Amino acid sequence: MDDRIGLMGFGSYAPARVMTNDDWSKLVDTDDAWIVARTGIRERRFAADDESTLDLAAAAAEKALADAGIGASDIDEIIVATDTPEVYTPDTAAFLQDRLGAGEVPAFDLGGSGCAGFVLALDIARTRVMAGAQRILVVGVELISRLMDWTDRNTCVLFGDAAGAVVVGRGAVEAELLGATSGTDGSRAGILTLETGGTRRPFSLEEAERGGQHDIVMNGREVFREAVKRMSAATEQVLQKIGRMKEEVALIIPHQANLRIIDAVRSRLGVDEDKVFVNLDRFGNTGSASVPLALAQAREEGRIRAGDLVLLTAFGAGFHWSAAALQF
Ligand SMILES: CC(C)(COP(=O)(O)OP(=O)(O)OC[C@H]1O[C@@H](n2cnc3c(N)ncnc32)[C@H](O)[C@@H]1OP(=O)(O)O)[C@@H](O)C(=O)NCCC(=O)NCCS
Repeated sequence: MDDRIGLMGFGSYAPARVMTNDDWSKLVDTDDAWIVARTGIRERRFAADDESTLDLAAAAAEKALADAGIGASDIDEIIVATDTPEVYTPDTAAFLQDRLGAGEVPAFDLGGSGCAGFVLALDIARTRVMAGAQRILVVGVELISRLMDWTDRNTCVLFGDAAGAVVVGRGAVEAELLGATSGTDGSRAGILTLETGGTRRPFSLEEAERGGQHDIVMNGREVFREAVKRMSAATEQVLQKIGRMKEEVALIIPHQANLRIIDAVRSRLGVDEDKVFVNLDRFGNTGSASVPLALAQAREEGRIRAGDLVLLTAFGAGFHWSAAALQF
């Protein structure tokens, strides 16, 4: 009997509206050359006015279910990783359970893990399958364009909206989840936060008069340094955990925040350029959606073949980090 635990279906969704660097240069004091040189981003997708986090999540989830050849009623748990939920309470997973027409199964959000949320959710799903669940829908979704400060050039040019989803289960899997590793350093929480609306800084008239935007507080250089350190260490840790060598890795799919971060991780690990998947030039940093979007696209573009060992590695606010190993 096939007893492997892993991924059985993949899906992604990026909104149709393209926002280029030139579009940004008309709104803030920036230009294409700066953004490309400092980040590698050329364009990103923004949700339409009538699209919400739930719409993005449902579009990716439906594709993942179809790809797995199952229906919503076959799912026995839903996990949504997001820092930009549909509403404050209840969580996006509750809305998604209803939208998909899934059974009355456990459904919950993993919020606040920043861009590391999806890989952490995969790790949780793996252990939930070990504990008896059959098929878990795991979604990473972000609609950050609606919450960020469109006048802050330090942050607004970095992000994009998207969703990615997978079905994690036991049996005939396409990619076995061999192992994962995750960690947190909460002492660095203040270096990257989205504060408005929490109990520390509730919504107020003053906030509303400023446009009701959520300030993304970010020390870009510190985030950069830490992202390189943690994503490369997590990659090495997960390899050690599963007893494999980095020479055996066919493809690394890192969180897509900045091309210079990805290059620095690659050179720390001593891995060739063709073994690292990059799509941030087209999508920017899509937070929790970044890794599942890249994973689904790498597979669609034929960058992953049967037999490949593929590593996912992500880093985000918290600081949180997480890495996972997949055997296709
Ligand atoms: C944000 C980031 C791109 C900035 O790049 P950097 O090389 O570190 O740039 P610096 O912070 O040294 O800033 C250089 C200058 O560019 C300016 N600048 C910032 N954003 C700009 C923009 N969009 N266009 C033009 N200039 C900009 C800064 O104001 C600064 O000007 P100053 O020196 O006059 O103050 C980079 O630090 C980064 O990607 N960090 C990680 C961010 C991230 O991934 N966050 C999400 C976490 S998952």
